[in-house]
Amino acid sequence: MSTSREHFGSRLGFILAAAASAVGIGNLVGFPVNAAKNGGAAFLFIYALFVFLVCVPVMMAELSAGRASQRGPFGCYQLFAPKHPLWHFGGFLSVLTPFMIAVFYLVLTVWILGFLLEIIGGNLRAMAEPEFFGSFITGKSLFVYLVIVAAFVAITLHFGVQKGIERGAKIMMPALFFMLVAMVLFILTRDNAFAGVKYYLIPDFSKLTTQVINGAMSQAFFSLSLGMGIMITYGSYMDRQASIAESARLVAIADTAVAFTAGLLVLPAIFSFNPNTNPDELSSSSVSLVFTFLPKVFLALEASLGYIGATTVAAIFFILVLFAALTSLISIIEVPVCAVMDQFKSGRNRSLLMIGAAIIVVSLGCVVSFGMADFFTHFINYGNCEAGTKCKSFFDLIIDVFYDTILPLNGALICVFVVYQWKKRNFDKELENGDADYKGSIMEKYINFSLGTFIPLLLLLIFINTVLSKFFGTSLI
Ligand code: TRP
Repeated sequence: MSTSREHFGSRLGFILAAAASAVGIGNLVGFPVNAAKNGGAAFLFIYALFVFLVCVPVMMAELSAGRASQRGPFGCYQLFAPKHPLWHFGGFLSVLTPFMIAVFYLVLTVWILGFLLEIIGGNLRAMAEPEFFGSFITGKSLFVYLVIVAAFVAITLHFGVQKGIERGAKIMMPALFFMLVAMVLFILTRDNAFAGVKYYLIPDFSKLTTQVINGAMSQAFFSLSLGMGIMITYGSYMDRQASIAESARLVAIADTAVAFTAGLLVLPAIFSFNPNTNPDELSSSSVSLVFTFLPKVFLALEASLGYIGATTVAAIFFILVLFAALTSLISIIEVPVCAVMDQFKSGRNRSLLMIGAAIIVVSLGCVVSFGMADFFTHFINYGNCEAGTKCKSFFDLIIDVFYDTILPLNGALICVFVVYQWKKRNFDKELENGDADYKGSIMEKYINFSLGTFIPLLLLLIFINTVLSKFFGTSLI
């Protein structure tokens, strides 16, 4: 079986593909704004601590389990715990989660493509109006955009690991990086841009409440594609000679660097649009920032650049976001596709067809849950809904359950699974492949200790806290 399994072509290829997966809409918009609201450099500091002390070890656990089992998450849990149906549930969760995330991320990507095309079509002025987004998300053109995005992702995945995923990342990631740097340099020349940099970088430790720390932790976790089965799947495509510890570190650095750099673009842009902005009043949701706030910010460039200039800058920004979203979408859809290939020994195209069709069907439910179909728009009652109203849509439910809540649970499960079920010595052995210095290092001691103790506890705590606050209106801390 392992002889026919696909692999990444090079170490750089793997790192770019994993970073491409991790860098998404949240890195470019949500992260910078949340950092500015929640203590600037103090937030960045806490975030970086979590990335390196908590997330990198979890990433190493996921990559090793994938590489050693040569399977995606579902097969991996089965292989290492053949007689424990409870663990199979863990495997099931780590395929269901990416499937559901794929559904809603597909919808977001479709909106972004739609916004890009609207901008290119000369509609930036209309898009800055408050009603625009509401009518956009109920428009029929969305179905056309859905076909375009789905076709692009399907074609990439059809070409497989090396010729599809890796090649896509090798083209889109450098392009994304150059566009990002060029935009930063440009935006920093605008009036008042440095007021934004100041907000972003001056530390305010008094803002670090437990809520903020909890938020930084979950954000770091989801930003690195953890708990989604992606790193287990990508681990199974990794070369045995590559050092997992070093690769995980490089992916984490790349993801954090993009998020950090994006702050030097987004905050200066917001402050040059309005120097009196109070960051506390900015929305913390990436969706409302990208689709309702940023078009206004870009339109304001008209005063100095003219309409065509403002349109060009907005278009470049949306291409950037589109690339980030597409590469994340590709990686997440690969997880269920790989699970079907492993499980039924079916070919790539057949699995892709099955999963693709299922994702499109469920995502149609999301697309119409903004007013087009009442059943999906008023789907369910929980959290802050008034009694008797079904105030949450199908789309809200998927985001709340699968994006905002379940990832830390999946993360805690994989830590416990690797350390106590698969066992430390096997885990260690896998980490020693391609890494002669790992054995006996301080790193080894830290990884083994943390993954068997406080990391899963911390993740479990975050999970419980999020469940309480999202669904029951209370919290632990
Ligand atoms: N960093 C991504 C974001 O900011 C989150 C993410 C990581 C993601 N991996 C993903 C989203 C895979 C979708 C699919 O949005």
